[in-house]
Amino acid sequence: MQWEKTFIEDLQWDTILVEKRKGVGVITLNRPQALNALNSQLIAEINQALDQFERDAEIGCMVLAGSEKAFAAGADIKEMAELNFPNIYFDDFFHLADRIAQRRKPLIAAVSGYALGGGCELALMCDFIYCADNAKFGLPEVTLGVIPGIGGTQRLTLALGKAKAMEMCLTARQMGALEAEQSGLVARVLPKEELLAYTLEAAEKIAQRSLTATMMIKESINRAFEVSLSEGLRFERRTFHSIFATVDQKEGMKAFVEKRPAQFKNQ
Ligand code: CAA
Repeated sequence: MQWEKTFIEDLQWDTILVEKRKGVGVITLNRPQALNALNSQLIAEINQALDQFERDAEIGCMVLAGSEKAFAAGADIKEMAELNFPNIYFDDFFHLADRIAQRRKPLIAAVSGYALGGGCELALMCDFIYCADNAKFGLPEVTLGVIPGIGGTQRLTLALGKAKAMEMCLTARQMGALEAEQSGLVARVLPKEELLAYTLEAAEKIAQRSLTATMMIKESINRAFEVSLSEGLRFERRTFHSIFATVDQKEGMKAFVEKRPAQFKNQ
């Protein structure tokens, strides 16, 4: 595959911070005055940064983080307040947000503080979530007279099951970190001071593996949400067969036999 090198530093970001660290592309939401509320510019910039990382051969995993107080407190209510149906229908409002979930490289959410409304939905679009012990998840749209609009009713239900998803969306109850872990919403809870370091360490580990295998795993797991078990198994089996055409499969297994670390080349 022809991947271009990227020049992240050439781009100007107003609502996010972007950096590359040891094979990991890190995006930090940066609208502290609005608790990282997702306005159109923020969603556009996240997508631009993800586009860059996806094309960057040096990047094997991506991380989305917020501030200690808020991952994101929702879609930007002030931006949405005066919108009306024809505008948002014809513009297909939030269709750009869906692109975040369609990324092929792994994307981890590091959630500290509030992940409400669109913020919770943004975290749910990532492949998995690590959260800090102060995290609060919720879909309070009903209190604003609207419903979740970036996948919340679907992805929260897939993650938690009907009872909790229904209760959270209808009552606007916020879920704390421990319950989120017990319910399968997050992969792990960490003390808030350790969240970012732990997330980056995991992301670096993922980035060191064969990107082909990593992307195929992501694709196969996501299939489980869309097709029957027999179709999913068939997809996994064919994908497993195809990976034997890669250099990385030879290297990974040879390295095991030779008792040395594998040097993957994404080939
Ligand atoms: N949109 C726009 N601005 C927001 C915001 C949002 N979702 N959340 C917070 N802000 C702004 C506040 O208006 C405030 O700005 P000003 O200082 O200019 O007034 C600033 O961020 C700080 O917020 P607070 O003073 O409210 O901070 P707090 O610590 O007292 O409360 C909070 C924190 C409980 C998260 C509270 O800010 C809050 O309830 N926010 C809204 C949460 C919400 O309803 N989210 C769902 C949005 S709708 C949605 O997301 C639709 C969808 O599915 C796509």
